[in-house]
This record gives sequence, structure tokens and C-alpha cells, in this order.
Amino acid sequence: MEFQVKSGTPEKQRAACVVVGVFESRRLSSVAEKLDQSSRGYLSNVIRRGDIDGAVGQTLLLHNVPGTLCDRVLLVGCGRERELGDSQFRQIIAKSAIALSDIGVADAVCYLTELNLKGRDTRWKIRHAIEAAQDALYRFDKLKSEKDTKRRPLRKFILTVASRRELTIAENACKEGTAVANGVELAKDLGNLPGNICTPTYLAEQAKDLAKKHKHLKTEILEQADLEKLNMGAFLSVAKGSRQPPKLIIMEHRAGAKNDKPIVFVGKGITFDSGGISIKPGPNMDEMKFDMCGAASVLGVMSVCAELNMPLNVIGVIPACENLPDGNANKPGDVVTSMSGQTIEILNTDAEGRLILCDALTYCERYQPDAVIDIATLTGACVIALGRHPSGLFANHGPLANEITAAGKNSVDRVWELPLWEEYQELLQSNFADMANIGGKDGGAITAASFLARFTKKYHWAHLDIAGTAWRTGEKKGATGRPVPLLSQILLDRCAE
Ligand code: BES
Ligand code: MN
Ligand code: ZN
Repeated sequence: MEFQVKSGTPEKQRAACVVVGVFESRRLSSVAEKLDQSSRGYLSNVIRRGDIDGAVGQTLLLHNVPGTLCDRVLLVGCGRERELGDSQFRQIIAKSAIALSDIGVADAVCYLTELNLKGRDTRWKIRHAIEAAQDALYRFDKLKSEKDTKRRPLRKFILTVASRRELTIAENACKEGTAVANGVELAKDLGNLPGNICTPTYLAEQAKDLAKKHKHLKTEILEQADLEKLNMGAFLSVAKGSRQPPKLIIMEHRAGAKNDKPIVFVGKGITFDSGGISIKPGPNMDEMKFDMCGAASVLGVMSVCAELNMPLNVIGVIPACENLPDGNANKPGDVVTSMSGQTIEILNTDAEGRLILCDALTYCERYQPDAVIDIATLTGACVIALGRHPSGLFANHGPLANEITAAGKNSVDRVWELPLWEEYQELLQSNFADMANIGGKDGGAITAASFLARFTKKYHWAHLDIAGTAWRTGEKKGATGRPVPLLSQILLDRCAE
């Protein structure tokens, strides 16, 4: 789908459909008011009959509205005007996009971006309208033999601004929104692909393809032999339980000043997590194909910063392998030596994410990074602690945590900080190695982060536990593309500095 911005009065639009808002209860928005005047009260007449009262997400399609040049007018319920917030806004955009695509119109001009939203400007509204619309229309039917082919899918979605003076801002926001929406879509597609297709090798191919598309993006793949030379004993110990070769995927976008220290994103890329010898129970184990969603979000944000040609130095690092039980797999009690030299007693082979991440995090030291942010579907305990709305945030540097929290609010891809206090380190005590890879049943998300903290002392670091946010479970099972919007916002904010 293509997005555009424009300004102009609704009655003059020649599109297949014009979209305007109606507030609860039965109140026309100011743009709808304008249409009402040019149609000599047609809209207010319809509303008076009670077909739509304006509750959030209601829609009503009108044909042949007098005094207009468009084929149709779609009225969209926006709820009470005073209560119109971020989430209502995204909801009404999503509902409009779905209604338009159900009707089968090819192009539409949407005036909902002219509604007033507390604390949000034009740039925000345009960007989020694009993200919400593309998110709502996403389908994953690559692996279905019969696609649900609409006669005419919505091709062009035009968003309006109230005055021509805002057009430049809106055009930039349109580019940003489109890039972020595409990054989200890439992350969703990769997450939704099953483990037999989306292998470590497949992820590496995707990273190479991405580099081919963008001038400033370079990809390098480190193979098993390279990892051995680097002494990545923790990462390799997980990989050796699988027949798929491990990959360490490195992506570099260097469009910033030469001396600018890079920001590094590290994504957990377990393309399937069976638990290994500490095997997981059967129910819902299929969802462990989503255990590479951290990796997918890194590919997603690299595509965003390349597409927008951000003047920054950004690096993506993805350790990718499978976690399977095999004659050669890790066994409970095994002790391995990480790249950092620290030894680890593997008490549970299902705590594998931290084992591949710790070596990737040590690898990051070579970049002398400004900050490192890792993104991982790391613990079920994080879902228990926070539910599925925020991602868990941990950081060893207050300003970095604040930067991420603010970006979360702005992108509506939110985080909630959990403590990384020294006291938790005791829980990782081992009788046989420098540390154990699990901390018992208390504070599972925190002990996992505390484990990683032992490998990130040399730089500013934050960890995002996305176990509750990267995919939806149940009837709407599927990847969400989070936290690509959050990571993109962090970069956009840095561009603005
Ligand atoms: N990938 C899982 C975490 C996970 C589990 C995310 C369920 C979402 C839903 C991770 O590798 C894992 O298995 N973690 C264990 C850690 C435990 C063994 C200390 C967990 O959370 O149960
Ligand atoms: Mn696991
Ligand atoms: Zn895992």
C-alpha cells in the first residue's frame, strides 16, 4: 500500500472514498461539518436517524453524497472528543483501513489525521496513522495455497493535514511512518515463518539481501569456524545440539560522522527453542518459533535506518542458532567457557538465550559503542511479571533507560523498567563454575538480566525482554513486529539531537 499526504477541502476530493470522523454522541467533526454544509445537511440527516452514534470504531458507508466529487463517504466513530487519545486514534485508523479494504476501494482520502489529539502534533499523527493502517491490513498468507485475494485491495491511502504550511512536515512524517511500517512488516514476516524455513542460514540470507538493497548497509556473516576462533564457548554449546549451523550476523550502517561512536542492537536469534535436554512441555511449543523475534526486530530497525538514510552509525549483531536435544547437546551440569573467559554451569538447557547473548555482548566491546541494547524473548517470567503490554527494560545506565522509556511513550511501543540491583547476583551462584545460567524460581526476568549484566560492564547497556510483546498468542496468534517502532524512535530522536 502506498501512503501520501495532502491538504484540501473534503467535498473537492475525487477519490473512491473520503473518510471523516463522527464523535459520540452523534456529533460531526469539523471536517464532517464542512461536508455537511456542501451536501446541504445530508450527513446530519443520516446521523439524526441514528445509524451511527459515534462510538470508537463504528463505521457507516454513504454513497452519492450530494455536493461532493468522491464516490463514497465513510463515517468513522471516534468516541467522545475529550477522550480521544493515542490508542483511540490508532484504533479508528485501523478500523477505517479494514473497512476500506473490505469494501474494496482502491484509494481513499482520510481526514482523521486532522482531529485534535492531546499533546500530539501533525508529525506524530501522520506517522502513527501509517503504522496503524499497515499493521491492521497485514496478512501472513505466504504459506497458504489459496490467498484471500481481494478484487481490489486498498492501494493508496492519502492522509490530510489542515493547512498547506504543514505539508513539508507531513511529507517527512510520511516517509518515516512508511519506513517504520515496512520495518515492522519485515519483523512480522520473519517471526511468523516456521522454524523449518526460518533457520539461522535463512536469517543470514535475509541480512545479506537487506545490504544489497541499501548503499550504506554492510552485512558480514561469521560462521562456526569463526566463532570457534573467537572462543564463543557459550554460544557454540547451544548450537551444537542442532544440525543447523550457527551464524553470527553483523550489519553495519555507517552514515554518521567517522568519530561518532555507534549504537549497537543485539537480537536473540533462536530460530526454534525446544528447551534442549531440559525439554519444554508440548502445549504451545510451536510458539517457540518466535524465539528469534529479537533478531527480527534488529533486521527491522536496520532496514528503517537504511531506508531513511539516518546520519548515524548503527550496528546490528545477531547470534542465530537452534536449541534442540541431541546426542551432542548441552546437558544439565555441563560447564562452558564464554568468550569473556567467565565459566558458566548450565543447570537448565532451556535458559539458552543468555548463553548465546553473553558471547554476542562480549563481541560488542570491539565497537567501543556509545550504547548497546539487546532485544530478546528471554523469559516466561517477564510475561508473568508485566503481562503483554510493555516490554521489560533493564539498564546499567540511568540516562539510557530514560531515553528508551521516553521513546517507548512516543512510539506507543512501551517499556517498563525492572531493577538490576547487585543483590540479585547472589542467586546465580554456582558450586562448580563462575556462575549458573539460572537463578531459581524468584524473579526470573531479573536473574536473566543480571546474568547478562556480568558481560556488559565495559559499556552503557540496556536489555529489552520482549517475551510478552513480540507475538500474540491464542486466536490472533502472530508476530507483532515489536519493538521495531521503539528502536526506530530511539534512532529518530538521536537524529534530531
Ligand atoms: N525463549 C524462552 C522464553 C519464553 C518462554 C518466552 C515462553 C516466551 C514464552 C527462553 O529461552 C526460556 O526458555 N526461558 C526459560 C528460563 C528458565 C529455564 C530459567 C523460561 O522462561 O522458562
Ligand atoms: Mn529456552
Ligand atoms: Zn529461548
